[in-house]
Amino acid sequence: MKTAKFKNPRASHGFQGRTCSIAAVGSCVPERRLTNADLEKSVDTSDEWIVTRTGIRERRIAGPQEYTSDLAAKAAATALQRAGVTADQIDLIIVATITPDMGFPATACLVQQKIGAKRAAAFDLEAACSGFIYALEVGQQFIMSCTYNTVLVIGAEKLSSIVNWQDRNTCVLFGDGAGAAVLQHRPSAHGLLTVCMGADGGKASLISMPGGGSLHPASMQTVVSGMHFLRMEGKEVFKSAVTAMCTAAEEALRRCEIDVSQIKCIIPHQANRRIIDAVADRLGAKPEQVFLNLEKYGNTSAASVAIALDEAVQLGRIQRGDLVLLMAFGAGLTWGAAVIEW
Ligand code: UT7
Repeated sequence: MKTAKFKNPRASHGFQGRTCSIAAVGSCVPERRLTNADLEKSVDTSDEWIVTRTGIRERRIAGPQEYTSDLAAKAAATALQRAGVTADQIDLIIVATITPDMGFPATACLVQQKIGAKRAAAFDLEAACSGFIYALEVGQQFIMSCTYNTVLVIGAEKLSSIVNWQDRNTCVLFGDGAGAAVLQHRPSAHGLLTVCMGADGGKASLISMPGGGSLHPASMQTVVSGMHFLRMEGKEVFKSAVTAMCTAAEEALRRCEIDVSQIKCIIPHQANRRIIDAVADRLGAKPEQVFLNLEKYGNTSAASVAIALDEAVQLGRIQRGDLVLLMAFGAGLTWGAAVIEW
């Protein structure tokens, strides 16, 4: 490992040379594009409103027989192939999602079956749009503790299945997709340097899908009153998002004793262009450091950071040795930021 221009906070935590790197990433988005012009035909909205308020131009929508586990399995297959890892080498699969195929069993178990990872343990993790960053942190703990050698972390969503297509406040924002990362120890890199996570359950009601759980079990009444749809108080979420992502990102940079200028690429959760611009501005980042793809996919919740990371890598925006900052914010409320030596 070459001499670093940053501090590895994990090095002082007794990990003795063990690192957790992202060996490869992969992603999958459905074929079908739903443009702002398409939405103009079904709700009282306009391309101009959506683009100026969010930056989104189109999103991908999964087919009726295409489920979260299908998108996840395809993203995983690409990541595994790029990493040169076979399915039977996977020790653990973590799927971050708020749109599992069903209440239970876990979507991770369905993915395990679809990719043929017979040896792998599997579970889902729910931290909404922060899910991929939360799952990276959980996955890396298993690598760092030498419990497992190969962990597959996936963020996957079919948000089109919980969006109220009559509600212009939310239906223009979301899309479907999946991204996957293969985690392994790699002696030549520091890998995941730090992950800062946070939550505020006091603001749980700002984004939720209240129906179908033990609080409001599914009934005729919950269906009629729209409780199985995603609900969001956008303005309040907006304010919290900027503050929380800045705080988490600043803490992550501080722990690594680096300045934002040392970051080669910032991969923010792709919810709203204005949120991303405000966060980048507060962090003192240059626009060219920030990776954006929300105009093509909208907000894909747990998949968003994973898909963007994959695209940034495939486009050559991130090279081995670069410092990368991930950050996300979502329902819970939850948030997270991670610094990686790629
Ligand atoms: O991923 C999880 C985290 N989620 C987020 O980060 C989302 C955070 N929030 C946001 O991105 C923004 O708050 C939204 C994009 C959701 C909304 O933007 P906004 O600038 O906060 O708009 P607003 O909610 O204050 O609405 C402004 C106006 C309202 O009309 P009135 O009351 O001023 O007459 C809305 O009814 O815009 C109206 N509006 C729309 N108009 C056309 C809301 N949605 C639409 C729409 N088309 N799709």
